[in-house]
Amino acid sequence: MTGPVLTPLGGRIGGRVEGIDLGGAVNDATLEWIRNALDERKVLVFPGQKLDAPAFHDFASRLGELQHHVLRKYRHADFPGLSWLTNVAQDGSVDKFGVIRATSWHTDGSYTQEPPMLGILYALEVPSRGGATIFADMCHAHESLDAATRAKLAGLTGLHLHGAGPGGDMYEGSLADDQEEGFRDAVHPAVATHPRTGRKLLYVNATHTRKFAEMETAESVALVKDLMSHATQPDNLYTHDWSVGDLLIWDERSTMHRGAGDYPPTDRRIKLRAIVQTLSA
Ligand SMILES: [Fe+2]
Repeated sequence: MTGPVLTPLGGRIGGRVEGIDLGGAVNDATLEWIRNALDERKVLVFPGQKLDAPAFHDFASRLGELQHHVLRKYRHADFPGLSWLTNVAQDGSVDKFGVIRATSWHTDGSYTQEPPMLGILYALEVPSRGGATIFADMCHAHESLDAATRAKLAGLTGLHLHGAGPGGDMYEGSLADDQEEGFRDAVHPAVATHPRTGRKLLYVNATHTRKFAEMETAESVALVKDLMSHATQPDNLYTHDWSVGDLLIWDERSTMHRGAGDYPPTDRRIKLRAIVQTLSA
């Protein structure tokens, strides 16, 4: 029997995994292999998976405790730990503005005090062209900063509020009344340490980091923008072009991501999502 095979995709992050049927019995050794591969490559692609909602839920739950999506309307009716990422309404109409959602750089849930560990997406329908998801390596983004900026960031605390960062207007609409969190800043050091690998990472994003507590707003916003330019240089990215059946898992702490937002706005795009809050042992 051959084991799983990991093939690097991008220069720094991104790996293609073959040899695991995620809809079948995934044993503990395979789960540990996946966790270690995630530590190494930060974004994993499992092409050609055949999963229904129960099977997807079963697999995602093995990785850890699933978070219920903050917006109730996106939750899967039978599995509140799963949510839809779709531009297709219940009446079958396509939301033409869906194409611009989540196209600014962000880390899911950075506006909560305890952000999730993993994001998982499974593609059910993909646009005829475009619609990629782009990921940035936030460990390397930190390591490659000049020493003066690294020293400055070591003393800064990011204040995160949903969609309140300099790129926040491109995010998924307002939380308005449909949210469970209050409109309070989540507070995160600008430089965090990854709980599994111990690597330092830049925990700042254009969508939700509205300012640094120790700085005036204008100076903060300018710094957030500079950090985004630095972190999103082409050699620090992995761009995933989706095919039906692709399942992606990414490390929410050591990456940020955005939708490329370049698909034909009337094309259907349907994915099923799980957000892993805390990792199982
Ligand atoms: Fe996202």
